[in-house]
Amino acid sequence: MPYEANPADDARIESLLARMTVEEKVGQLGVFADMVRPFAPDVNPEANVRNAAEVLEQVRAGRVGALFNGVGAAQGRQIQRVAVEESRLGIPVLLAADVIHGMRTVFPIPLGEAASFEPELAERTARATAVEATAAGLHWTFAPAVDIARDQRWGRGAEGAGEDTFLGCAFAAARVRGFQGEDLRAHDSLLATPKHFAAYGAVAAGMDYNYVEISEGTLRDVHLPPFKAAFDAGALAVMTAFNDINGVPASANRALLGDLLRGEWGFPGVVVSDYTADMELVAHGYAADARDATLRAFDAGLDMSMQSGFYAAHLPALVESGEVPMAMLDEAVRRVLSVKAAIGLLDDPYRSLDPARETDASQREAHEALARDAARRSIVLLKNKGDLLPLRRDARIALVGPFARDRDNLEGCWTLFGDRSRYVNVEQGLRAALADGAVLDVVDGCAMEAELEGGIEAAVAAARGADVVLLAVGEPQRYSGEAQSRTRIELPPAQQALAEAVAATGTPVVVLLRNGRALALQGAVRDAQAILVTWFLGSQTGHAVADVVFGDFSPSARLPVSFPHDSGQQPFFYNHPRTGRPETPEMSEFKARWREHPNTALYPFGHGLTYGRVEYGATTVAAPALAWDGTLRVCATVRNDGVRATEEVVQLYLHDRVGSRVRPVRELKGFRKVLLQPGQSLEVAFELSRADLAFTRADGTHGAEPGAFDAWIAPSSATGKPARFELLPPA
Ligand code: NOJ
Repeated sequence: MPYEANPADDARIESLLARMTVEEKVGQLGVFADMVRPFAPDVNPEANVRNAAEVLEQVRAGRVGALFNGVGAAQGRQIQRVAVEESRLGIPVLLAADVIHGMRTVFPIPLGEAASFEPELAERTARATAVEATAAGLHWTFAPAVDIARDQRWGRGAEGAGEDTFLGCAFAAARVRGFQGEDLRAHDSLLATPKHFAAYGAVAAGMDYNYVEISEGTLRDVHLPPFKAAFDAGALAVMTAFNDINGVPASANRALLGDLLRGEWGFPGVVVSDYTADMELVAHGYAADARDATLRAFDAGLDMSMQSGFYAAHLPALVESGEVPMAMLDEAVRRVLSVKAAIGLLDDPYRSLDPARETDASQREAHEALARDAARRSIVLLKNKGDLLPLRRDARIALVGPFARDRDNLEGCWTLFGDRSRYVNVEQGLRAALADGAVLDVVDGCAMEAELEGGIEAAVAAARGADVVLLAVGEPQRYSGEAQSRTRIELPPAQQALAEAVAATGTPVVVLLRNGRALALQGAVRDAQAILVTWFLGSQTGHAVADVVFGDFSPSARLPVSFPHDSGQQPFFYNHPRTGRPETPEMSEFKARWREHPNTALYPFGHGLTYGRVEYGATTVAAPALAWDGTLRVCATVRNDGVRATEEVVQLYLHDRVGSRVRPVRELKGFRKVLLQPGQSLEVAFELSRADLAFTRADGTHGAEPGAFDAWIAPSSATGKPARFELLPPA
């Protein structure tokens, strides 16, 4: 719901502002890691963890606008009581946390959930997350991450929706809607924070925190739209990125925070820094010292400073000297207070701080069921040679690999508060789906990153005695997430060796891949008969895997990131600009390709199989031309020739044949998940208008250009035959 200011709140905010000292104003701009209950002391270890008494003293003195990463309704109440009853003006604090993909119930990592191609699913999991997080005393989450990740070496792609902007926009908006619910003032509404503004996913060489060199066109067409989608869905906060953009750090970037965000987009909410990002202006060499960093960040439009304490230390003197006008300080404080008002905190400081709600377990079953459904809807079937999957329940199964019974790598890179006692691992899930006495032999084979003595021998023996091997291999969860960048996006060597040995037995292998990014699959893993991408699926991992393996659920997810042949192809994304020397089957000398590999994906964006057999008819356009102000229907018939009902993700791609800037080879512009019974045909149609053809043109303006276009309705970004149409110029 887009936010509308309430005049009664405005009057109250003005009255508070009129009474506040400069120190109290600056206090509202400070966000600090919760120093009372360092719930996860290993997160942000550089945090200055002070003692509880000191925190309460800071709150009492009106020096804290928001606290984060502590939970508990009773403890939150205690803090709020001090803010409301013992601070001079009684302004409540915002209680925040990084609640990224679940609170107590853990849902798939966002990248995995994006594979569902079901934004409404993400909306539902975000809603359930908000219900649990607000019950634990939180008002504000630092999510969703809406960064577009075109380089799989970057570990934080796990937190977003993958490489595509159209899909990213749909998921950004859905997650904001889910977190915030229908009514921001409701006790179970959780304030959302799209992050990291901006172009964090474009860090050079996929190395986290690295610099960003980017064209205005790519910034605007690829990286900014998911933020705009999140704001249009009502997000009232945004977090700045650590990186610079073309030499100007995002956290002190006036073109970004001022001209674009406030000016062009009219964003009414608060801009919060990432953790100590204002302080890091000094390390960037963009500010001389702490005072200079404070001035540059604040002047550029950064409202709230997270954790560095720079604003508290230097803003008062900058106001005193006149370098920061009081009116500007007031504007920032007004925005923070407006957000507090918008969520009802000024009226009811104890909202979301009801210990009875925290202990209420009535939602639990529904949330676990949702977690299971979200998890199986996120599993991508990459390959299924000879229809090996689904397995018969009477097959003799060897479950092999370090993820077979592991419980420490189910949740993915960012879950601080998950209820581990409820996690279901792969072995548990399979056993629960099998009748007593069914043959399931479980062998680790190796550790995550090391051989185990006798491990391979045991795995080989188990494989020999089985009809099929389920090979549970992949990346440990700490390989993705913040500060996790890789040069080789492959399995650890010990796991690869296990895969080779197991494959050599000749027993058919189904790979259950655990991953927080697209991987460059090699050898026996790549060549296995079947591959399921299972990401990090959360609490219900094992049940979800079993549902798909035994066919109780037909996989319907699609890759939100392209799987390359080789790590050296990165950055690799399907919607790359056209080259003047594209690879052609006839002649590949002096063409855009690598010596070792073609310029293709092993599995492209959008790819995913089902247990049905879906055939696509030709893409047709209703007319050869789209009038400038008109619409054009593009459609195709899909038919399930298989014997099982299935859900199919029908995708629409467009290509602009000639543009004032070089255009991408294809771009996703629509998708629909449809249910097809065996033998059923369905016509799937999309309605195009020129808005779907718009981009940042050579002159910097946004809009479409008349001319020829291609449209595909296809099962992936690398398949189908296009239909052509013209966009006519304005009449
Ligand atoms: C740093 C991360 O980049 C950001 O995503 C997170 O919200 C903050 N730390 C706070 O934990």
